[in-house]
Amino acid sequence: MTKIYIVTGASRGIGLEFVKQIAAAGNTVFACARNPDGSKDLLELIDNKKVFAIKLDALSDESIKTAAAEIESKAPEGADYLINNAGICGTMGLDFEASSKKELNRVLETNLISVNEITKAFLPILRKRGQNKVKKILNMSSILGSIGQMEDNDGWGFGVAYCISKASVNMLTKMTANKLGKENFVVFASHPGWVSTDMGGEDAPVSTEDSVSGQLANLEKFGKGENGNFYDFEGKPISW
Ligand SMILES: NC(=O)c1ccc[n+]([C@@H]2O[C@H](COP(=O)([O-])OP(=O)(O)OC[C@H]3O[C@@H](n4cnc5c(N)ncnc54)[C@H](OP(=O)(O)O)[C@@H]3O)[C@@H](O)[C@H]2O)c1
Repeated sequence: MTKIYIVTGASRGIGLEFVKQIAAAGNTVFACARNPDGSKDLLELIDNKKVFAIKLDALSDESIKTAAAEIESKAPEGADYLINNAGICGTMGLDFEASSKKELNRVLETNLISVNEITKAFLPILRKRGQNKVKKILNMSSILGSIGQMEDNDGWGFGVAYCISKASVNMLTKMTANKLGKENFVVFASHPGWVSTDMGGEDAPVSTEDSVSGQLANLEKFGKGENGNFYDFEGKPISW
């Protein structure tokens, strides 16, 4: 049976590749981007039958509310999967002394607070699938959010704001999973690999294609046993 997906940050990079692969598999996808018209690659995928562009600025409450209403009207039967992918890396290389309040707020607002706001707003759409169907949420994290992996390293050049934001997404994932697990949800944090995108840079060893096909396979196969945990794109568990 075909599935209905919602993907945020669909204008480019990993989010765009999610839309490509979901559409190629014949599933329905709501591709959320803050400026869909500005992404030629995304527009090429839109058919308004199974692939829809939804305007969504993750930082705007109004935009999140409007996006949820639009998806609900186009998918009155609800959606199966939410992929919280949108994110920013912030300013590279700023350690805790160099990070301003403004920098921390900017990155945490996008990478953490928006994830919670979007999940809350879109939850009624997923809940429409009912108690008997498994609903799933993938929260895009990063190995840089793993405190266990941060021994003796400075975040591989990423700033403290980014690393904190992803560590916080991990806790948010755990607590969301604890609550929603009782309603037949599977919620997990995902490390996509070091992926060749605007954020990952051209030296990154993992292609968007491999990262996304791995994460989509995880999304499909993960069940109760994986609820509330943290995995890389190949399905290997990552320590918190
Ligand atoms: N690439 C990697 O190696 C890597 C590794 C670990 C984790 N990740 C995570 O994977 C996710 C995707 O990363 P990526 O590499 O694909 O990055 P990217 O190429 O920089 O793309 C980021 C996406 O997020 C969107 N976005 C940012 N702020 C937004 C906002 N306020 N509202 C709506 N959309 C917003 C961007 O939209 P615009 O086009 O409008 O800016 C873009 O679509 C991020 O959460 C990132 O932290 C990436």
